[in-house]
Amino acid sequence: MSILDKLIVMGGNRLVGEVRVSGAKNATLPIMAACLLTQGEVTLKQVPNIRDVAMMERILVHLGAIVSRSGTTMTVRGEQVEPKEVSEGLMRQLRASNLAVGPLLSRFRKIRVAYPGGCAIGSRPMDLHLKGLRAMGAKVTEKYGYVDLEAPNLKGAEIHLDFPSVGATENLMMAAVLAEGSTVIRNAAREPEIVDLQNCLNAMGARIKGAGLDTIKIEGVSKLGSAEHTIIPDRIECGTHMVAAAITGGDVHITNVIAEHVEPVIAKLKEMGATVLVYNDSSIRVKADSRLKAADCRTLPYPGFPTDMQPQIMSLMTVAEGTSVVAESIFDNRFKHVDELRRMGASIKVEGRIAIVKGLTRLSGAFVEATDLRAGAALILAGLVAEDATIIESIDHVDRGYDSLESKYAALGARIIRVNGNA
Ligand code: UD1
Repeated sequence: MSILDKLIVMGGNRLVGEVRVSGAKNATLPIMAACLLTQGEVTLKQVPNIRDVAMMERILVHLGAIVSRSGTTMTVRGEQVEPKEVSEGLMRQLRASNLAVGPLLSRFRKIRVAYPGGCAIGSRPMDLHLKGLRAMGAKVTEKYGYVDLEAPNLKGAEIHLDFPSVGATENLMMAAVLAEGSTVIRNAAREPEIVDLQNCLNAMGARIKGAGLDTIKIEGVSKLGSAEHTIIPDRIECGTHMVAAAITGGDVHITNVIAEHVEPVIAKLKEMGATVLVYNDSSIRVKADSRLKAADCRTLPYPGFPTDMQPQIMSLMTVAEGTSVVAESIFDNRFKHVDELRRMGASIKVEGRIAIVKGLTRLSGAFVEATDLRAGAALILAGLVAEDATIIESIDHVDRGYDSLESKYAALGARIIRVNGNA
């Protein structure tokens, strides 16, 4: 894989068959950061093979963790972790690198990190994280793109988040684990990945209750130990496959799924006319026999419709019958895929955070750019139904978060190939 790689998608084939979902990116990243809290050994199973995980691994190794991988199993040993400064070079490549802040402060009480980077989908500040850490007694100094945090007496606190930020909830949970006394996080994010983080931390010896609800309580403990944990399946990957089946008029059985986690996507696809069958809450079959109908969609914190599925569902709307309205309420700049979809002939108007999508009977292949992770996925989906070839550049964004997407789709019958950028 190279940052110059391109994907060529020849549209027109129905996707048919079975596909297995990999472990969740957004559960793996905070859980890897949580490994910084312990001197013990944490074994993680079902870790996806994606670039963001490799980046987080580099950060852990930089901090002194010993990380080994065998297939989808990762082992992290934290006895030699030190609170070294995390440079801009490392932090800028991964937005989720900010999740190292809570664990490092909790364990070492004094740290310095650069501001993180990541997907170009909005301003994504850290104010809610830092406000919560201040409430726990941390002195925070921000200058020259770095944040210094110091908390010799890190204490539990009552924290009310102004917005249920996923990252802030996770960071504060991790900071509270080794703090003195109890912490309550109100208006916490309720995403399934937060429950997975709680389960892994509790297996390490933490005392956390309430993840998945809007109030989380953490009783500080003096030390964490070793644990083994299996990462949950990736609900956004699952949702992407569901749209792939629907947009190609296909019939796809998706396995290794927690159906409850994709309820909002199931509901939207049914509303648009797809057939969605759920088996034992652990696999899903999506079929579409005729052209789907338009629907409106608003992104919201979980259990609302996920912002990470907004670009993909928009691709489906570009070829549905009728006009759909999409409201993006989580990020302030998450319509970068719109210009690229327009290059493929899509009819989309944007007014602020609202997009109006007029469904057409066909898209045509074009040269397009994956501007961020989910935008890239949306372009692959559009390419699967477009006439002729769609050539997607900057595919490294997709490699950040999807494990083997093109080979999974090729196995379902898609004509999709990677062109090595170095060739
Ligand atoms: C996580 C996910 C990302 C997903 C997002 C929303 C990971 C690794 N990434 O990102 O895939 O799109 O949740 O579901 O889990 N905000 C502030 N101040 C803060 C923190 C956030 O204003 O201190 C704002 C952000 O700018 C954004 C919104 O809150 O507009 C949501 O951000 P947040 O929930 O924190 O997302 P992430 O944790 O970054």
